[in-house]
Order: sequence, then structure tokens, then C-alpha cells
Amino acid sequence: MSKKKTAAIVLAAGLGTRMKSSLPKVMHPVAGHPMVNHLIDTLAKLSLEKIVVVVGPDMEELEAAVQPHATAVQYERLGTGDAVKAGMTALEGFKGNVLVVYGDTPLISEVTLNSMIEAREEPQGGFAPAVVVLGFVPDDPGAYGRLVLDEDDGELLAIVEAKDASPEELAIPLCNSGVMCFDGELLPQMLGRLTNNNAKGEYYLTDCVGLARDDGFACAVVEGDEEEMLGVNSRAELAMAETIAQDRLREKAMKNGATLIDPSTVYFSYDTQIGKDVLIEPNVFFGPGVSVSDHVHIKANCHFEGASIDAGVIIGPFARLRPGSTLAEGARVGNFVEIKNADVEAGGKVNHLTYIGDARVGTGANIGAGTITCNYDGFLKSKTDIGQGAFIGSNTALVAPVTIGDGAIVGAGSTITRDVGENDIVTTRADQKNARGAAERFRERKRLEKEQQKKD
Ligand code: UD1
Ligand code: MG
Repeated sequence: MSKKKTAAIVLAAGLGTRMKSSLPKVMHPVAGHPMVNHLIDTLAKLSLEKIVVVVGPDMEELEAAVQPHATAVQYERLGTGDAVKAGMTALEGFKGNVLVVYGDTPLISEVTLNSMIEAREEPQGGFAPAVVVLGFVPDDPGAYGRLVLDEDDGELLAIVEAKDASPEELAIPLCNSGVMCFDGELLPQMLGRLTNNNAKGEYYLTDCVGLARDDGFACAVVEGDEEEMLGVNSRAELAMAETIAQDRLREKAMKNGATLIDPSTVYFSYDTQIGKDVLIEPNVFFGPGVSVSDHVHIKANCHFEGASIDAGVIIGPFARLRPGSTLAEGARVGNFVEIKNADVEAGGKVNHLTYIGDARVGTGANIGAGTITCNYDGFLKSKTDIGQGAFIGSNTALVAPVTIGDGAIVGAGSTITRDVGENDIVTTRADQKNARGAAERFRERKRLEKEQQKKD
């Protein structure tokens, strides 16, 4: 257990030029959640004194996304050292541990961050290290900073950025993940001594290690798993982070008792909740805000967002649930059905080629193929209320606002513009006329017309 208090600074002011995007880099989503929010969610589990997010001067969207945590503005992007300096303005007088994380490293775990804080307080040769750096050995060290260790005692001597490194230093396999934990009493003076005399002309936070060593303080490395350390600087790295996040979410769903026939084709959001004995067929996409109870069967090729699916529901193939959809116990939603902001109550059936929007489908009601709730008149949305046990015939247009009473039957092909009472039968289609035997006479007439046309 850590004895000192710890505060965290999340660096998020960088523009992320390599992303080629108008969105700040750390706002790019991984599993439906901005990268910076992944980090903040993880930090929030550590019971920290305070979380400060360093943002750029023109990043209102980012400031809103990290609420209610404190933000500090870095007015000029002069490097990671300068960004931490900006963050420290929100931690004036704080003397505990300062944990720095980079907003573009979204996959780091709570366990790893905890081990960093613990290492910061662990005496090495009588002294706790002034700086602890989270290192890792990536397959391709590329542009990561290299950790230079003392050959004799393995202590951390310096971090050298790839652009400033000699060929020998570039050959070092151990790299800087960007996560560092500082002694908060020493950090301000170290930051004050940073210079930008380097290849990028930036104030590197990583230079603090060398400065601490110059002052006679020890610095330590905690080694972590490559999968957690991935820094996202480009769209290709964003895709790599997504793959790792998805694999974790698939594993979690299976561990909790769901069967995924082809896991690699099922995509979850960071917050998807999946119950036990859920069967998920291939090619299913979960957007944010979806919960699925036990014993649900999701057939292939479905897309869900903002929906709640109760126990025993069977849904798909090819079904779409949009925000505000709830399917109560035992409901059935079949192929090419779209549901938006609507409640399908227990045992309701919407099985084929249908749009249900801004509506209630009562308990046990049956909605025929091709039914459309006409919820929008070009200006306003209106509600359709379908009562318990009602039966809506195929190819019916329900022009909202409209109510269909409990137990009512609507004949196929109807366009319903007025309320239908309980247990009423209603049809709005034109009457049918049958001309007895007329088909034979019709064919004979047409045959003669065709012959005449050939002669002319
Ligand atoms: C940084 C490290 C490198 C490490 C790598 C891990 C430095 C000097 N280098 O390099 O050793 O291996 O991360 O992923 O620290 N930021 C600001 N203000 C700035 C500059 C950056 O807030 O002025 C933020 C960015 O939004 C980003 C983070 O700091 O979240 C890291 O910046 P980035 O430019 O990605 O640094 P790297 O080149 O990846
Ligand atoms: Mg980076």
C-alpha cells in the first residue's frame, strides 16, 4: 500500500499532427471511447488526490470530455516537460507522488500504474527513487525514447529520445512508455532546469532522469507488457490499439459466459455489458451504451447502440437497434428490422422488414412484415403506441401520433392516421373486386391485339 498521496497529470495538449485530423489526438476513440477517457477511467480506480489534464488553448471539446477533472492549459506546445509544468500549476504546494501519463497511451492497466506508485516509495540503497519510469521492450522500438541503464547496477541513468540517440543508444531494446512517477517535492525544480537544446527543440520531460541523477538521486525502471504501452501517434497505431482493446473485450465477454462463434468478427464498446449464456453469431457490432441480459441469442450481422436487451430475446440476423431501444424479456426482432427510441415489451414480435421509431410495442403484440411507424413529418417526431396483444398486418403505415388499443387488429396494407380502439378491427385499403373468369377473356383480347400489331 502506498503511504504518500498521489496526484496524476495526463498530457493531452499535443496536436497529434501524425494523425492528420481536426480532432485532438487523444479524443480519437478506441472501442467507442476517447483515448484520454480510457486513461482517466483507469486512473479513477487508483483513489488519487487529484487528476489534472493538460490541454491546448483551443480544445473545448477535450475539456468537456474530461469533466469533472481539473484541466490546465499549455498555451504553447513546447514539449512534454513544458506540458507537465503547465499541469503543476493546478498542483501548487502538492508534495506527494506525481504520476505522469501520456494521453496517447490508452491501454495501460490499473495494476501497472499501482506498481509504479509502489516503486516510487520503495527505498533503493536507502533512498526512494526520485523518478520511476515505466519501460518496455517493443518488437519495433522505432521512435520511442531509449532507457540507458548502468551496466553494473542496472540503475536508470538517462532517457534518450530516438531523434537524439547515437547508433549504440538506438540499439537499446528497453524503451520509455511515457509513464513516469516523480517525487512531487523535487519535480518543480527539475522542470525549471529543462532546456530545449535537442533535435526537436522541445522541453523533454524525459530529461528529468538525467537531472535527478546529476543531483545524486536514484531513478528506477518498472518493466511492463508491450501490449499496454502502445503509444498512438498515427492512424495505423490507432488501429493496433483498437485490435488489442477488442481482443480484451472479447475475452472478457467469453470469460463471463458468452459464446462467440467467431470472436474476431464481433466488435464491442468499452462499456458493453454481456450476460451469461448469450450466443453471438459472426459480424455483430456493439456501439456505446448496450447491455445484453442472460440467454439472449444474437444472430449474424447486427448493429446495436444505446440499447438494452432483456433475457431470452432472439434478435437478427441483420437487425439494427439505435439509441433508446429496449427489448423486454422474450421479445423477437428479426431480419432487416430497425428500432429507434422504442420499447418492445415482453414477448413482442417484430420479425421482418420493419421500422419502429419513437414507439411502444405492447406485451405480446405482433408486428407484421413491412410495418412502418411514420414518426417524422419533416419537422417533428411523434409517438406510436401499440397496445398489448395487438396485431399489425403486413405493410402497414402507422402515421404518428397514433394509438392502437390493446388487442386491436389492423388489416394488412393499411395506412392508419387515427387512433384505433381496444379490440377493434380496422382496415383502410380499397375494397377488392373479383371479375369471375375475366383473365381468360383478357388474355384472348391481348393475343389478338399482338397479332394485329405484327401485321401492321
Ligand atoms: C514520448 C516520449 C518518448 C516515449 C513516448 C511513448 C518525450 C520527450 N518523449 O514521445 O520517450 O517513448 O512518448 O509513447 O516525452 N504533449 C503535450 N504537450 C506538448 C507535447 C506533447 O501535452 O507540448 C502530450 C501529447 O498530447 C501526448 C503526450 O504528451 O499525449 C506525448 O507526446 P508525443 O508527441 O506523442 O510524444 P512522443 O514523440 O510519442
Ligand atoms: Mg506519443
